[in-house]
Amino acid sequence: MNDDVTAPVVLVGMSAREVQAHNLLHEVAHEHDATVAFLQLGDPSLSAELTRLADLGAQRIVLVGVSLGALAPAVSWLRRIAAHWWRERAEQRPIVEVATRLADGVDQVRQVLAVRREVTGAEAGLESAAWEDVPGHRHQVLVCRGPRCTAMGSDRTAEAVILELMRLGQSDDDVLITHTGCQFPCNHAPVVSVQPDDVWYGDVDPDVARQIVAEHLVGRRPVESARLPRTRGARPATSRSSRVMTESLVEQEPGRFRGGSATVMPDQGPPDRLSQTLATGPPTTRGENPLGEP
Ligand code: FES
Repeated sequence: MNDDVTAPVVLVGMSAREVQAHNLLHEVAHEHDATVAFLQLGDPSLSAELTRLADLGAQRIVLVGVSLGALAPAVSWLRRIAAHWWRERAEQRPIVEVATRLADGVDQVRQVLAVRREVTGAEAGLESAAWEDVPGHRHQVLVCRGPRCTAMGSDRTAEAVILELMRLGQSDDDVLITHTGCQFPCNHAPVVSVQPDDVWYGDVDPDVARQIVAEHLVGRRPVESARLPRTRGARPATSRSSRVMTESLVEQEPGRFRGGSATVMPDQGPPDRLSQTLATGPPTTRGENPLGEP
């Protein structure tokens, strides 16, 4: 396969890191006359973009996975998701080609684009017996990837948590990492909370993240110096009624209250708005994680 690509090209962000760097991804896409989609967390999803291009009449679509961090799922997952879409597509199906390796930096896109392989439909599906059960984790760590925490470096926080867990031999059956939308105490970004201990942490830079892993998640002693106060039940009345505050926040950040919980990202503006809280694949130490290497 050469790099004479005349088909629509889609740069696919593989992890939360690329969702955060969506502006950069769009710049690179523009240079390559390509569009952008995301394997997880971002909009549009890969499936949505494939459908859009196919509905426009594309006969062939080329996908290039882009990984700007250390924790993206393997390129096989790009093929797998694309193959699922291809099998499910009821209308005219374009040929879908997937670059055989990920672009580990935006400067690698052209080189990676040169070698690609067609999706056949014989790729593994999206289900496996290994993914049937809820993991038996003792702790769930909720890493806020809301806009404020993201702006304050929660990508590095998440990476530090994951890498330290791996270094200390912890798996998804010990600690399950979940990326979330805004968890509300944005002034303390980046925010991390640990369940079921109901311990909340603020200003969690990579050093603090590693400390939380070692002392709390492994040593079972919360890191008091980084802990945020936690009050259950109704807050005391403030100068503004909670109703007015709620209405104001809903108006400013409609996604924040969807479903009655802070699980949906406030609007970041199209086209790459984070859409909802997901337990994601990249933060895994478990060999059979649905978005890890199959
Ligand atoms: S964005 Fe993280 S707590 Fe609001």
